[in-house]
Amino acid sequence: KVTMTDVNGDTRTFDDVEEGTSLMEVGKAHGVAGIMGDCGGGCACATCHVYVAEGWWDKVGEPDDIEFAMLDMVADVMKDTSRLGCQIRMNPELDGIAVTVAPAST
Ligand code: FES
Repeated sequence: KVTMTDVNGDTRTFDDVEEGTSLMEVGKAHGVAGIMGDCGGGCACATCHVYVAEGWWDKVGEPDDIEFAMLDMVADVMKDTSRLGCQIRMNPELDGIAVTVAPAST
């Protein structure tokens, strides 16, 4: 189960999330506004940028160096809880996670 708040502030919860699916794929599959996933999950576009909800950060963990470099490209909208949705894959520990889609970088 994943709860996503899109760039318009609409929050939806998706129950049909399979293990191994990335949050970017979940967002795209459900047309969540603001999740583009332009690079197809290659950690090369940052159009899947999300903010991880409080309480979930420890389970999700820090971005690796490559992901951090990508997030740095959208530093104007980056927060301490920023991650790229395509780099977070669902596993039982993340069941119930909530994220907010980050606005596009300007
Ligand atoms: Fe491009 Fe995530 S889909 S960085």
